[in-house]
Amino acid sequence: MKLTETQKKFVEDLLGKMTLEEKVGQLNQDSPSIVGGFDVPFEELIEMVTDGRISQEEFGKIMATAERDYHEDDIRAGMVGSVMGNDPVKANELQRIAVEESRLGIPLLMGFDVIHGLRSVFPIAIAEAGSFDDDLMERTARMAAKESRAYGINWNFAPMLDVARDSRWGRVSEGPGEDPYLASKFARAKIKGLQNSTDSTENYVAACTKHYIAYSACEAGRDYNTTTMSTSQLYNVYLPPFRAAMEEGACSAMASFNDLNGVPCTVNSYTLRDILKGELGLEGFVVSDANAIRECVVHGIAEDDVDAGIQALNAGLDMDMGTRIFYDHIAQAVKDGKVSMETLDDAVRRILSVKVWLGLFENPYVDQSAIDAYAKALPENHVALCQEAAEKSIVLLKNQDNILPLNKENKFTLVGELADRPDEVVGAWSLAWQKDDCVSIKAGLENVGAKFEYYPVCGPEGELNIEELKSAIDSDSEIVVAVVGEYTSMSGEASSKADITIPGHQREMLKKLVAAGKKVVAVLMNGRPLALGWEAEKLNAIIEGWHLGIQMGNAISKVLFGEINPSGKLSSTFSSVNGQEPMYYNHPNTGRPGTKSKFTSKYLDAPIEPCFPFGYGLSYTTFEYSDLKLTENKDEIIASFILKNTGDVAGTEVAQLYMQDVAASLVRPVKELKGYERVTLAAGQSKEVKLTLRKCDMGFYNNQGKYVCEDGLFRIYVGGNSCDVLDGEVRVAF
Ligand code: NOJ
Repeated sequence: MKLTETQKKFVEDLLGKMTLEEKVGQLNQDSPSIVGGFDVPFEELIEMVTDGRISQEEFGKIMATAERDYHEDDIRAGMVGSVMGNDPVKANELQRIAVEESRLGIPLLMGFDVIHGLRSVFPIAIAEAGSFDDDLMERTARMAAKESRAYGINWNFAPMLDVARDSRWGRVSEGPGEDPYLASKFARAKIKGLQNSTDSTENYVAACTKHYIAYSACEAGRDYNTTTMSTSQLYNVYLPPFRAAMEEGACSAMASFNDLNGVPCTVNSYTLRDILKGELGLEGFVVSDANAIRECVVHGIAEDDVDAGIQALNAGLDMDMGTRIFYDHIAQAVKDGKVSMETLDDAVRRILSVKVWLGLFENPYVDQSAIDAYAKALPENHVALCQEAAEKSIVLLKNQDNILPLNKENKFTLVGELADRPDEVVGAWSLAWQKDDCVSIKAGLENVGAKFEYYPVCGPEGELNIEELKSAIDSDSEIVVAVVGEYTSMSGEASSKADITIPGHQREMLKKLVAAGKKVVAVLMNGRPLALGWEAEKLNAIIEGWHLGIQMGNAISKVLFGEINPSGKLSSTFSSVNGQEPMYYNHPNTGRPGTKSKFTSKYLDAPIEPCFPFGYGLSYTTFEYSDLKLTENKDEIIASFILKNTGDVAGTEVAQLYMQDVAASLVRPVKELKGYERVTLAAGQSKEVKLTLRKCDMGFYNNQGKYVCEDGLFRIYVGGNSCDVLDGEVRVAF
């Protein structure tokens, strides 16, 4: 986000004309209050549907009928800076009040959660990151931005950039997985896609990077829980994607709910002012998370609302989502000298700058033609991108005896309630999907004329239908495709789980099918890495399908029948059993890495290895890595190697480059991802691949938050996942 000198002057002139109250008004984000039968704030309603307290259907009904108070009088009085919502007609109405009826005519930021697409729902982020396809990640964000604008939204509460290492945390679904390097690439792609339009100036939005910071490090994977960590861990693991996003010019950030080392991120001047606005250079503003300013009282860091509001603004939190504490108390606080006018002006300047950058002063409205574009069926290019993203995000985890791809002419049995749930393909934080757009796995199979009998048998909750199970077992097909996993509501906000094995009676169903001698191909639908120890051992094949968005069914059926050769990789480690969590590949070494001998770092009752490591994913062909050569020039190490497709079909491999700093002044991870490339090879083809590691990226942040590059020995690894690698060594003097 860069403003021209003229734009900066415009902001200063406007600021100069504002009253104290009007300034405070810009810091207030309102949500329409739902009145008449459902009296909760809009953002809480969104949370209720997200965490499953109410169903999508109930939510839809409430939305269709509820009367809303949009606080028009406050908008008219200049007391609202932003409104939450996704109704373009209403957005135009409210903008008109702000622009034509308020004294200074300042347009509104219209904010909404567009995490992995709006009406065009793409794969959840943890899945899409596994495509390792930066260009795809950018294109899906750009399409989300375009749809957002048509829905009246000009500010997206995305991308979610929480590096997540504990799969019990339900919000792992919303982010790019466990690796800071991959998360940083994801961050850059998303900021470019959301903020840099390529076709028309209307089709970009302001991004809101979240949740700042270390929210995913919540103790025990329990949402909203406390976080504690060293400076070096904060800088090396959690900050990198935010740093990358700021380098790309991200317009805003959302402070996270958690406390970090005892200070809630809402009132944390070290993380907000010193790091985010100072070191990382955020030029736009920081918004609180929903109701988070008030929650500072519950945290026990503020005595009351007034105290919380003053602490937040002074700490560098610029906009209040949902509490109206700024609205109610900041003007008085300025009069009392508890908040300086400079502090208030800085917050207002940042918010106005984003509005100017968005071009809202020139045109705050949505064109009727844009609204009309989504009144009917989704445009074909949107559907095509949903399908491409879904196909590239699928990860083949097991394929014993090449049971896959299936032959379309052979009949099989399909089980699992999830197979026939179009409403469950979308994943957490999908708020504008339409059922008719959604393709369930069963529908996807029907679309290609597959021959199968279907018995739901059981889903993630509820009982096992014995009759249906018996029919599935008695059927004469040897192969059973079992669609199992989690409902959308089992991941996302407030959806932490202590047990991350396949829920309900689904494992029991799988066990009975295996015991009956069936060959079982599991297709997983889930929002988090699951503990798959039993499934990995006993099932014939496993396809990780995540929640792939509206084209899930078509993408899965193409993979099942080999029309698409899977190329996705895991953006997170999968455990075998619950107790291994948090589990991640880039952990520090210990003095006693786990081995078979007793006094080493391991469990007595669980393996030390992951079930499936970070970066893992099979293909219908096989790839061989050989001839690793490391060459060095002034600024880079170049790892070149031969990648060969040793199978008999074409395929795409994500070749990965890892590094280990062998001895440093702080213990470093056993491996760190430093590069990757998608390489497509015809059957039998080989190619020399070169992955480059810049020397300036070989350092780390120490406990003073200082980036250091230390001379010494480095191990370099290349391979198709974080475990199976070729290795070499290089001694580097910086
Ligand atoms: C709470 C969530 O933590 C955040 O991600 C979201 O953007 C806001 N609510 C607004 O819906």
